[in-house]
Amino acid sequence: MSFKIQPKGFATKSIHAGQDPEQWKSACVIPPISLSTTFKQDAPGEHRGYEYSRSGNPTRNVLEKCLAALDNAKYGLTFSSGLGATTAVLTMLNSGDHIIMGDDVYGGTNRLIRQVASRLGISATFVDASNLENLKSAFKLETKLVWIESPTNPLIKVADIEAIAKICHEKGNIIVAVDNTFLTSYFQRPLELGADLVCYSLTKYMNGHTDVVMGGITINSENLYTRLKFLQNAVGIVPSPFDCYQVNRSLKTLSLRMRQHQKNGILIAKFLESHAFVEKVLHPALESHPHHSIAIKQTYGYSGVFSFYIKGSLKHATAFLKALKLFTLAESLGGYESLAELPSIMTHASVPIEDRKLLGITDALIRLSVGLEDSDDLIDDLRRALDIAAQA
Ligand SMILES: Cc1ncc(COP(=O)(O)O)c(C=O)c1O
Repeated sequence: MSFKIQPKGFATKSIHAGQDPEQWKSACVIPPISLSTTFKQDAPGEHRGYEYSRSGNPTRNVLEKCLAALDNAKYGLTFSSGLGATTAVLTMLNSGDHIIMGDDVYGGTNRLIRQVASRLGISATFVDASNLENLKSAFKLETKLVWIESPTNPLIKVADIEAIAKICHEKGNIIVAVDNTFLTSYFQRPLELGADLVCYSLTKYMNGHTDVVMGGITINSENLYTRLKFLQNAVGIVPSPFDCYQVNRSLKTLSLRMRQHQKNGILIAKFLESHAFVEKVLHPALESHPHHSIAIKQTYGYSGVFSFYIKGSLKHATAFLKALKLFTLAESLGGYESLAELPSIMTHASVPIEDRKLLGITDALIRLSVGLEDSDDLIDDLRRALDIAAQA
């Protein structure tokens, strides 16, 4: 069985959507970086679409149009970071509102909800959203938002987005938000599955070159767009025009990069699954993955980020991570270079220890972000590091 077939036209959109040279007086083919913070008005209150760069910027506009097109969405918005985008969504809520959150979300999202939103009177219930019964039992009268990651980070659990959207919409006006950072618009388009809002850490695959921190949101509802566009300006979490230029440029190779990330990732997942010093590999393209059938039903493929349990303890995981030469020991993911990390001590250290234990984020769980290097070189690096770990 294989993933959904990608309809034609994605690469064309990534290259052309929002980029029309006719929008510039000079007809430049590559969008300019518009650094001006303010724009001349023809008469007081009469401007040509731009007044002040926080409320709107030409380079940002190009990127937002391209992002929207890639998700087949009506609107796109960008923010100064992925967490900035999440903050914009949270600031749509009021004190007393309730959120249902996936239990295995990015550590920073978890921290934002537990340590910031809670102080503002917004409560949250964390559930394993891959189990629909758990999700159904978490609704309250005050529930306004369901926030899921699929696949989750770092346990790579897959939730049935279509089923979740159906449940939420039958219950009423509950916003279904999907953090699509791990898969990008190339491999998963949650709006097509019924979600209301898609959130990205563009810092990851969408930019893909590990040199920009940025967030994005895509939406179809005009009402949600108007509220989020207002908050983008009112809260002030906007990206720089230079960064917008970089991400816009990176989108031009998104489909090429994602195909290669997928290829390398699957080869490496299979290699690890066959290795004696590996306990278990969590990769949705493997038939051994418990949510393999949902993954292939709702996605067009899989990226290069996945996790595995090494045999042994913290000592062995540390020996392995220190022995790697091509994989760099670092947080983050989605760049052209391969990275490895230990979520329990690095990206997910802010998740309470009891929760980590319950979830299975042990000291033997290693997350890889497989890059675009030659897969044989990457496999040699992993084999050598696993041999060293086995002797630790
Ligand atoms: C899945 C996911 N969502 C959101 C974020 C936050 O994004 P940023 O670091 O751009 O604020 C991250 C960061 O690692 C992430 O992995």
